[in-house]
Amino acid sequence: MLDNKFKWWQKTVVYQVYPRSFKDSTGNGIGDLQGIIEKLDYLQELGVETIWFSPFYPSPIYKPYSQHDCGYDISNYKEIHPEYGTMEIFDNLVKEIHDRDMKIVLDMVLNHTSIEHPWFKESRSSRDNPKHDWYIWRDGRKPNGKKPPNNWNSMIGKAWEYDPHTDQWFYHAFLPFQPDLNYRNSEVQREMLDTVRFWLKKGVDGYRLDLINTLFKDAQFRNTPFVFKLYSEDGDLFFRSSEMTINLPDTLEFCKILRATIDEFLDKFLVGENNASLKILKTYLGDMSKDGISHDGLNLVFLFQSMNTPMKPKRFRNLMQMYEKWFPYPYTPTWVFGNHDQMRRITKIGDNFNKAKINAVLQLTARGVPFIYYGDEIGMKEGKASKKDSRDAISHHFNWIPQFIRNIIGKYGIYMNRDGCRTPMQWDDSENAGFCPPNIEPWLPIHPSFVKRNVNREEKDVGSLLNCYRKLLKVRKENLALQIGDFALINLKKLNKICLTYHRIYEKQKIFVYLNFGNKELFLLSPIQKPQLIFSTLPNRKALNLKVYNGNIKLTPFEGIIFK
Ligand code: GLC
Repeated sequence: MLDNKFKWWQKTVVYQVYPRSFKDSTGNGIGDLQGIIEKLDYLQELGVETIWFSPFYPSPIYKPYSQHDCGYDISNYKEIHPEYGTMEIFDNLVKEIHDRDMKIVLDMVLNHTSIEHPWFKESRSSRDNPKHDWYIWRDGRKPNGKKPPNNWNSMIGKAWEYDPHTDQWFYHAFLPFQPDLNYRNSEVQREMLDTVRFWLKKGVDGYRLDLINTLFKDAQFRNTPFVFKLYSEDGDLFFRSSEMTINLPDTLEFCKILRATIDEFLDKFLVGENNASLKILKTYLGDMSKDGISHDGLNLVFLFQSMNTPMKPKRFRNLMQMYEKWFPYPYTPTWVFGNHDQMRRITKIGDNFNKAKINAVLQLTARGVPFIYYGDEIGMKEGKASKKDSRDAISHHFNWIPQFIRNIIGKYGIYMNRDGCRTPMQWDDSENAGFCPPNIEPWLPIHPSFVKRNVNREEKDVGSLLNCYRKLLKVRKENLALQIGDFALINLKKLNKICLTYHRIYEKQKIFVYLNFGNKELFLLSPIQKPQLIFSTLPNRKALNLKVYNGNIKLTPFEGIIFK
């Protein structure tokens, strides 16, 4: 493997910023672009290389809030929502990011617009309107058309909405105020590809593609067949197969068109959001091209399989084996433990900092591109999001479900109020955690843990989670093997139950990662004669001192080390 064979996005570490919650520079309790610019030095010092921004495009006012699905319901694809700033500030953001030798990735919501988008308003104005066909409209079932056109589901249940004005039904893959665009209409395709080009011309380095698996639906609108599954990774839901609405071959073909579009520019990239089995996910990367190292589909896809993996070495071992099976080099897996739709990882793992450190080592040393969710580096935990005060559109949609049932469902990993993972970033221990000025009500309550868990405090503490991330990112940057090296698990037999061990190899460099998930001290025979410690989750550990331990490597409880 030669270094120059690798593209920047194969080696990078991505950090997701949720703009609304990162830093408020105007004093209205809502994060904004200028606030992000003020914090770029922090991100550079942290050591992340690419920043992915959740949407900051205009999204309609929905009383009493603006931004109904927080930007995933777009009403203008080529503007900045006034709450976040102006196009001038955006251009400056791109420049400031590039000046720091970092990359910027935007979120692109191709599947649907807001119900308030002028296109949809035109579309629903009459059946003859030229934009009518831009969305998916159908007559209802006979005799009087008052039943939905077919039995399709959306991801949240009902998929068809009746519109009395046109006496037709429109389709939505997500929430009812997010009507799906009709990708079988060539004008829609042209317009959306133009949107993709618009921001690339402005200098952005790529896109995270929202719900990319739902773009095309069955052209004949056939009913979805029955499957004996309440739920499946590939989108089957409530005993209905997803084959008429999700992962259609036309969608895969369109991903190739998207790829060809970004390839009109130099060095851009696409990562797709698509909840699916590894087998299906792989198909989104397209076919191997003649050079044997690149594909003609998306560059990366999120592998969400890690998201709910418990802190058990065997579970990670299996997962890593699966990733290597389905995504061997030159495929690049992704490592994702949190995002704006998921409960905070640290809360899932019992709010345990030792485990969070092990998790961080794994994420930043396994083969693949890591995606870090803002605040995970300081151990931000899940906010208490009650149904009553919720801001999240999903929570509103399921308002009829009583809180106690939500709590029970939550135990099974179904997340009904995403406010909990979207609370403002905790910068310091002042009132409002340095996110917005004191005496202002932030758009979501600051998590009470901010007094102890904040950037300012953790920067000064050598043993903090933040400093663990910083060191790890530095070690990763200094060692190509950790970025792009081959990966192999090391078999410790019985000890595989409590310890996860693997190595990464790049040319002559071999790097070992040993992670002790247990609460017992371990002594493991060193795989090499003179191992040199390059990282430990213990801040004060400087060496391995094999002689002291009879040629063994000592691992203290919950310690993760990297050596070469
Ligand atoms: C994606 C986004 C989510 C959004 C939904 C609809 O899953 O991550 O936040 O609500 O799509 O666009």
